[in-house]
Amino acid sequence: MNQVPRHIAIIMDGNGRWAKKRFLPRVAGHVKGVSALKKIVNHCNTLGVKYLTVFAFGRENWNRPQGEVSFLMRLMIKRLDKELAELHQKNARIRFIGDRSRVSHEFISSITNAENLTQFNTGLNFNICVDYSGQYDIIQAINRIIKEHPAESITEETFANYLLTAGQPNPELVIRSSGESRISNFMLWQLAYSELYFSTVFWPDFTPQELDHAIAWYNNRERRFGKTSEQL
Ligand code: IPE
Ligand code: IPE
Ligand code: MG
Repeated sequence: MNQVPRHIAIIMDGNGRWAKKRFLPRVAGHVKGVSALKKIVNHCNTLGVKYLTVFAFGRENWNRPQGEVSFLMRLMIKRLDKELAELHQKNARIRFIGDRSRVSHEFISSITNAENLTQFNTGLNFNICVDYSGQYDIIQAINRIIKEHPAESITEETFANYLLTAGQPNPELVIRSSGESRISNFMLWQLAYSELYFSTVFWPDFTPQELDHAIAWYNNRERRFGKTSEQL
């Protein structure tokens, strides 16, 4: 029987290539990608995963063509508004993780509404990273922590409480789809000891069965945390 990780993080990649392969515009891949995500969220809910974090839009993604960026923003608002009632009914708690200063007012109002509505839910913690970067996360933590702590007193634990993921456990399993084996400025601090699973499947084709494969793979890892095999 596989042990289900408490926190799974996913770098959802390959929407554009999925579309290109089918001679479709890139944005068609993003639409399909959201449908794939919906199935994964439901599956995590069924499996009893406590935390699911998805990288939806990275800080560097502002450098994409403006039409694609605005399509993505509208798509995220539209689908969030549409899925909110069902997520709430399933007892999921939604949080947005990222820089809130550059996204539109419309986006902020949609995410604030989702966060407020679901704030007391006790099921799946569903984190959506938008305008996120791991380096930004660390820098914003430093800028806040230095106002409250004398320099020598800062420890790893106090520092983690200033990250955007404060209070949440670090991911045990990170999945990246589409055959890329890089972190792309995702949670640099939080991934210190995560198991990294790279799948060649493009995100729109990533099914609950693929997630099961990743979890089975995770169960075959020996997590040594610096110790020797014999010590475990
Ligand atoms: C991931 O798919 C979605 C976002 C980064 C917003 P991509 O759009 O990066 O797809 P590829 O990498 O071009 O195939
Ligand atoms: C960044 O995706 C991570 C997300 C899925 C949001 P990209 O597909 O833009 O990453 P790089 O730049 O190719 O590494
Ligand atoms: Mg990509």
